[in-house]
This record gives sequence, C-alpha cells and structure tokens, in this order.
Amino acid sequence: MVMNGKIVYLEKKLGEFRKFPLSLVPTPCHRLNSLSDTYGVEIYCKRDDLTGFGMGGNKSRKLELLIGEALKNGCDTVVTSGGIQSNFCRLTAAAGAAAGMSVSLVLGGKKPPKPTGNLVLDNLLGAHIRYVDSPDWNKWESESEKLTGELNKQGKKVFRIPIGGSVPVGVVGYITALLEIINDERRLGVTFNQIIHATGSGGTQAGLVVGKDMTGWPGTINGISVAMARDGIEKMIFKLASETAGILGGKMERESIKLDDGYIGPGYAVPTPEGERAIETFARREGIFLDHVYTGKAASALLNWLEQGKLSGQTVLFLHTGGHPELFA
Ligand SMILES: Cc1ncc(COP(=O)(O)O)c(C=O)c1O
Repeated sequence: MVMNGKIVYLEKKLGEFRKFPLSLVPTPCHRLNSLSDTYGVEIYCKRDDLTGFGMGGNKSRKLELLIGEALKNGCDTVVTSGGIQSNFCRLTAAAGAAAGMSVSLVLGGKKPPKPTGNLVLDNLLGAHIRYVDSPDWNKWESESEKLTGELNKQGKKVFRIPIGGSVPVGVVGYITALLEIINDERRLGVTFNQIIHATGSGGTQAGLVVGKDMTGWPGTINGISVAMARDGIEKMIFKLASETAGILGGKMERESIKLDDGYIGPGYAVPTPEGERAIETFARREGIFLDHVYTGKAASALLNWLEQGKLSGQTVLFLHTGGHPELFA
C-alpha cells in the first residue's frame, strides 16, 4: 500500500539532488476516450511527450538532474552518444545549450546527405557531431570515451553521459515521475493497475520501479523492450534500480521488474508492421503522435494485450515517452 510517510521521505531525499529545471511538470494525464470505449477497458495516457523542453520526451526528466550534476562538478562540456535519431542526444543538445555548455554528440550511423528529424534539431542547437558507422552500442560508447579524453586534453571539463542517461542520477528523474503518477491517480480519482511504456536503455523503468518499491505503489510496471532481449535488459535494470535505491536508503525486489521483448521485431529502430498500425491508431483515434523506435512498439504491445483480453477489468496507464521528431526522419 502507498504510505504517505514513505512519499514524504522519498520527496525529501529527491530534493537533495541538484536540479537544472527543464521540464514543465506535472505533465498532463488523461483518459483515452476512443480507445477506452472501443476495448471496454479504462485506458489513460501520461503525456511525457509534453514535458515541454526541447520538443519534449522522457529524457528531459533525466537531463535536469544530469545537467545539475554537471554544473555542480564545474563542467563546461557535455559528451554523450546515441543513434542518429536519438531523442536523448537531441535533448542533451538542448539542455546543454540552455545551461551555457558545449555539447558533443557521438552518433551511430553514416552521416546522411541531408539531416532529417532529430538531426535537424541537433544541428540547430549547435551540437558538435561525430559519426561512428556502426549499429553497435558498445562502439558508440567507446568513441564517446575517446572523444571525452580528447576534449579533456584540450582543457575542457567534460561531463560524459552514457547512452540514454541511464545512470543513478538520471534515474532519479523517473522516481519523481512515479510520485507524479500517484498524484494523478488522486486528482483523477482512479487507481492504475498497469503502466505500459517503452524501455530502451532502462533508466525510465528503473526510476519507476524504485518509486514503486520505495512507496509501496501496488500496480505493475511493464517495460516493452525495443532493443534488448529480456534477460539482458532485466539484469541491467535490476542493477541500476538497486544502485539508485541504495543511494536513497531503499532496496529493490527483482519481481518488480516486468519486461516483454516480443515487440522488438527485426531490431532496434527497425519499424514493425504492428508498430506502424499502433502509430496510425493513436493518430487517427486519439490525435496523438507516436514514433517508430519507442512508443509505436510499446503501443503495439498495448493494443495486442487489449485484443487478447489480457487487460480486461484493469485500469491501464500508457506512459507516452515522446519521440515524435523521428516521424520526420
Ligand atoms: C521516446 C523514447 N521513449 C522511451 C525511451 C526509453 O527510455 P530508457 O532509455 O530510459 O529506457 C527513449 C530513450 O531514448 C525514448 O527516446
């Protein structure tokens, strides 16, 4: 059961982190009327696509803590890596710009003849870009480390952020989101039994599950993996969540981490027909834009579970984590 005392304790602990505020929160949370009526299931949407900063998305919640930490450490430069259409890289470029820091991005893939989607925004934000022609996330990380070394040698004070900002300081941003969801429940007079959201590098889910275990929130948090097979990503999330909970004086239960890797399709960032259908359904039924890499695949799981009757009698929260600039890629 959610205990008010536990919430007060957690809020106090979270308040000890230095923050560089970026997100316009609380984000809206509302019923998806057309889908709820069609499936006879109460479905709500938490609009973290509308965090407001740098075209929105889940990563602004992580970045306000990461940039806060960078500023606390006196850094003047941020380095991170991701795919060419990375939302995290776009938002890092925006957050660094707002904080007066130089931003260098290592992007996985070939430099395209003409920038599209997030890459247009990275350029507009003044980020320095280095391309690594490989789909391998480990290669992006090692190039990002190499670049950090080069910039440090040039006298810069670099804050390097691993892929997706999935380190304990970033994860804290999604513990706050779970507290916000508990407030949404109270405001709307509903109890969410299931949260469904896209999982990539795992930080979003790690934050939500730490929030669940440290408050006693009783619902189930379902991460729909868009990149990694279940065992690998589950281990990563458990490690990250345990480290983060440890810093806050809490502990994690492995059973709190639920993942489904059945909607990845051929691979990370490769569109699937089910994802395409979910993107169309959300646009045409609800006027909400998803993306091919993350939220389209998460929504394809939601629609499939609804069609299989798996969510009958439940009140479901779809956490929309953003990503729509990718639609223009
Ligand atoms: C739109 C969107 N949704 C979900 C995710 C997944 O978040 P995480 O990497 O914290 O698992 C990302 C990560 O980049 C994202 O950009």
